[in-house]
Amino acid sequence: MAVGQSQDRTLGKHILLNRVVGRLAGVFSVNSPKTRFLSSPYFFIDLCAGDGTPSYFSGYSSPEILQKHANTIRARRGEGSAIVILVEKDRATFDKLQKAFPATNNTYLIHGDSKDPSVIAEIAEIIKSKGKPSSPCFVHNDPNKVTDWAITPELLKVLPRYTTSLTTMGCNVGGLKRLDFENRESWFDYVQVLAKAVKSVKCHNAYLASLRNDKSQWAYLVTCPAKWEKDVANDIEKAFKDWTHGVEGAWLSDSLRFKSLIRKLFLTKKEWEDNQDVA
Ligand SMILES: C[S@@+](CC[C@H](N)C(=O)[O-])C[C@H]1O[C@@H](n2cnc3c(N)ncnc32)[C@H](O)[C@@H]1O
Repeated sequence: MAVGQSQDRTLGKHILLNRVVGRLAGVFSVNSPKTRFLSSPYFFIDLCAGDGTPSYFSGYSSPEILQKHANTIRARRGEGSAIVILVEKDRATFDKLQKAFPATNNTYLIHGDSKDPSVIAEIAEIIKSKGKPSSPCFVHNDPNKVTDWAITPELLKVLPRYTTSLTTMGCNVGGLKRLDFENRESWFDYVQVLAKAVKSVKCHNAYLASLRNDKSQWAYLVTCPAKWEKDVANDIEKAFKDWTHGVEGAWLSDSLRFKSLIRKLFLTKKEWEDNQDVA
């Protein structure tokens, strides 16, 4: 496989998603006294679902990965035990998605922008009618570039407290960082908002991993139970093992390193070199 091509990233992204969601589904589908959320359905929300067509590079799509693990839970714990919500803003893409994954009583499709108040209200209604504030929930935030980041403060307000997530961040797709700093400043807020939500749950942490020497500067932000730190770091390593330049990672709890990696991703090389000492 050629290094530095988009296929490395799609394959890696889907391996990562599969491992992260597979672990959540594995824990939730086992009936154990340690599982806190036994009576509640698991919500899997794909905020940027795409068309559901398997990728040429991975053989999968994110809706398929989410449905696969939801089906494992349903097989063990009943039809209503896992709810999948797929959101796609582009009309033609949504039409294809609907054909690939028709709506059922445990799969909801929403045509619209995940940042739109009406879409957030629809998500809130599904969660309210089917779950509880303590329901387990996983959110996939997979836009084409970091400027389309879909997790907003308004969305976080309606999501259950113990929500975990995977965000893909294409920080220099098509040379995005040529934008003036003023136009990139809001990117820091996107991460800040999510980081604040993670910090508000004492038992959660977040891992940021960026592909070294990647022109498009793809990075992956996983929020997870803190006790899964080793597993998540291992997931990233496994998912991107073919990326020969390697991966650079930082935990949110290691705030200096985390902030430094964020700055490296969001600032131009010159801005980053001038700002390395900023705490
Ligand atoms: C990278 S593709 C998704 C690929 C898909 N998640 C997968 O892995 O199979 C990004 C998709 O997200 C959609 N999208 C981007 N921002 C969105 C938003 N705010 N709300 C809904 N859809 C969005 C785009 O239209 C595009 O189809």
